[in-house]
Amino acid sequence: MRVNDFYDHHPISEAQVLAALARRRGGDLSRLTPDELFEFDQDHYGGLAAVDALARRAGITAQSRVLDVCAGLAGPARFLASRRGCRVVALELHATRAAGAARLSRLVGLGARVRVVRGDAAALPFADDAFDACVSQEALLHIADKRAVLEGCRRALVPGGRLAFTDWIAHPRLAERERDRLREWMAATTLQSLPSYHALLGRAGFTAIEAEDLSDEWRRILRRRQETFRALRADTVARHGEARAREWEQLYAFFVGLVEAGKLGGGRFSGTA
Ligand SMILES: C[S@@+](CC[C@H](N)C(=O)[O-])C[C@H]1O[C@@H](n2cnc3c(N)ncnc32)[C@H](O)[C@@H]1O
Repeated sequence: MRVNDFYDHHPISEAQVLAALARRRGGDLSRLTPDELFEFDQDHYGGLAAVDALARRAGITAQSRVLDVCAGLAGPARFLASRRGCRVVALELHATRAAGAARLSRLVGLGARVRVVRGDAAALPFADDAFDACVSQEALLHIADKRAVLEGCRRALVPGGRLAFTDWIAHPRLAERERDRLREWMAATTLQSLPSYHALLGRAGFTAIEAEDLSDEWRRILRRRQETFRALRADTVARHGEARAREWEQLYAFFVGLVEAGKLGGGRFSGTA
């Protein structure tokens, strides 16, 4: 499965966010605030607390120029801009998601603070030293050349700038056929372990590297997320059809099963450029 195909049919989309808000507000989408979006526009594990934890590790302040790599609908970027007062560039590969990210940001009055750029994280389209902090959540799993991403982030950061990201990690018992299935179904590739990510960060030129195992926390979150997807089933069927909804359920059951079995988990990484 190619990453763009995977996100063409993803249950979290601009249309789904707006539909959920329209239901809540009786169809009136005027004067929306960033806060009203947060329940629906974060496509990672741990919600706003997870973005906050990354912001702390990345040392983000109101003065920071922040890059969010693989920003999705720019939910985390809007949270950082609205709560920390910083400016964020939200880089996203998928054309429809990038356009949706820009529209949602304008809709809540953050068009000037959150700039959406469509591009590939493995070939970052930014000048050296352009950012003070760089964050990313649950996205590097889709990119084969993780070293290119990390080296690009290091170059885009000022010396002393901080990178902080979370991603899936593979534990030793994850079998080859399970990796293959994750690639076919979810466009997940070259999954790293905690130590191999640590080493990659070092090779990309980062220092003061920290690697935290979030697998226990993610296990609990994933159980709840599976329930959320079940609750969105009627929406998913209406948008993508019964067959795709069933495929999502099977995919998630397989995925959550790997996490429950301790074969797949999550990690949080940080380092100084
Ligand atoms: C799970 S979503 C996370 C979105 C966002 N970080 C969040 O937490 O809400 C992963 C995102 O990474 C994007 N992506 C995947 N590969 C990419 C690449 N090579 N360059 C830029 N974005 C990419 C996908 O299109 C998708 O929107």
